[in-house]
Amino acid sequence: MKTFIASLALPLLAAAAPAMQTREANPPFSVMAIRSASPIHYSQMNAAGQKFYLGGKTSSYCPDLEGITCPAGNQTVIAGGGSALVSYSAFLCTNQKLTSLQDGEVPGGQQIYVDPTGALSFTQAHSAFIPAGSAIGGLKYEAGKPWSHYTFNGWGASGFMACPTDDNRWQVYAAMQNATVPSGNVDDCLGFSAMALPYKGPVPAWQYI
Ligand SMILES: *[C@@H]1O[C@H](CO)[C@@H](O)[C@H](O)[C@H]1NC(C)=O
Ligand SMILES: *[C@@H]1O[C@H](CO)[C@@H](O)[C@H](O)[C@H]1NC(C)=O
Repeated sequence: MKTFIASLALPLLAAAAPAMQTREANPPFSVMAIRSASPIHYSQMNAAGQKFYLGGKTSSYCPDLEGITCPAGNQTVIAGGGSALVSYSAFLCTNQKLTSLQDGEVPGGQQIYVDPTGALSFTQAHSAFIPAGSAIGGLKYEAGKPWSHYTFNGWGASGFMACPTDDNRWQVYAAMQNATVPSGNVDDCLGFSAMALPYKGPVPAWQYI
């Protein structure tokens, strides 16, 4: 295991090389919510517990292994295209070349989907399990000027909404009337615009949990 990981470290460094054209067009990105005059305005979208929340903290894990330097793990970054999270585990699972991330390709690892209740969700590392009845397509990065956006247009939804939870958080759902939300009432949710901010740093997390 140690040798395997050490051999991965070098391509990672190489991956910090200058951006390629595909990455320019379809960069990895983080998401900030825009909904003026609301508690979610300017909140970062964070992955936690296989779901997404506005505000709070990114939930990630990095194994304590010799020979690896753990990323900060405190930023939620989505791969170019919008259908997976950017984490090392994606590459360890699929044996994809680490440099492909820098080209803006979608890694095969932690996939993003909308679960049957309408909650934006992501798969566990090293698992392709997605509950039956989930929407797998329909998540998109839409390039724009000055701002690009992240959207979901599956199931007739128009983007995303944030719904209050029992523990005072705002959970991200597909914006649709028939979503099954924590408070039981979709009218408690706030639709928001998901601004996509291109991410230029190193791979931000080992794996999201
Ligand atoms: C993440 O952690 C790093 C290192 O501790 C810190 O410098 C950075 O400001 C943090 N970023 C966020 C978005 O919290
Ligand atoms: C919600 O409505 C959409 C659009 O009518 C439909 O495609 C989807 O299956 C519905 N989802 C649920 C959970 O009822």
